[in-house]
Amino acid sequence: MAKQGEIDYVARIGEVGAAHAQGKPFSDPDCGRMLADLGGVFMVLPPAPARLLDLGCGSGWTSVFFARRGYDVIGQDIAPDMIALAEANRAAAGVDNLAFTVCDYESLGFADTFDAAVFYDALHHAEDPHAALAGVYKALKPGGVLVTIEPGVGHAEAEHSRIAVDMFGVTERDMPPRDIVRMARAIGFRGARVYPTPKMLAMIQYEMPMLARLPDWLSDLVRWGGMGWLMLVAKRWRGGMVVLRK
Ligand SMILES: C[S@@+](CC[C@H](N)C(=O)[O-])C[C@H]1O[C@@H](n2cnc3c(N)ncnc32)[C@H](O)[C@@H]1O
Repeated sequence: MAKQGEIDYVARIGEVGAAHAQGKPFSDPDCGRMLADLGGVFMVLPPAPARLLDLGCGSGWTSVFFARRGYDVIGQDIAPDMIALAEANRAAAGVDNLAFTVCDYESLGFADTFDAAVFYDALHHAEDPHAALAGVYKALKPGGVLVTIEPGVGHAEAEHSRIAVDMFGVTERDMPPRDIVRMARAIGFRGARVYPTPKMLAMIQYEMPMLARLPDWLSDLVRWGGMGWLMLVAKRWRGGMVVLRK
């Protein structure tokens, strides 16, 4: 059962894997991309202080950042071992406006409680993403904001996803913005906006090493093309940050 795979994941990835999870984002080769994404999330959230629900928070690195920014944060995850790592991260950060809870985001028990909610890299593990979004809708206050950054089309078939599914029995879905927006609108969310993820914007600007060999003007031209492709096409199926309002 996939949910059991999520629950057992930390125990099965061993000490090195758990240390990686606990040390995020600094333990991850994608640290810069992750911090860029989180910066973008901060820019679309309602200002702190506000009550924020961090869904599928894992080892709680995003929750700690939100708390340090001044939000009153509940981080939730289905895996008790993840929440144990998150508790250790909370203690190390010395923040007291942050609490964690072990529960399933497909059956949340909150009503009209939060000003904001965030799925960062977590909704694509849902067995029933519609139930997860419906629970978040109920958990938000009227006018509350949900922000999602999830992997899009191609994620489920990527080699690392197939390995995770085979070895650990977790769920790995494609979760593109167009699907999130369709489900969210059916539930009652309004004002859906899709932005390129900060990570994709930053990758186009700062990564693409083959462009370093081109003259500046030509590499700028290619980057402009990349930005256009991202803004006009790719953000809806590949690299999108979705902002929804209750
Ligand atoms: C890829 S990890 C991302 C964790 C964290 N957001 C981060 O960026 O490090 C996905 C997380 O979703 C959690 N998860 C999966 N299914 C869940 C469910 N039904 N309810 C709550 N959490 C769930 C997993 O336990 C895991 O911690």
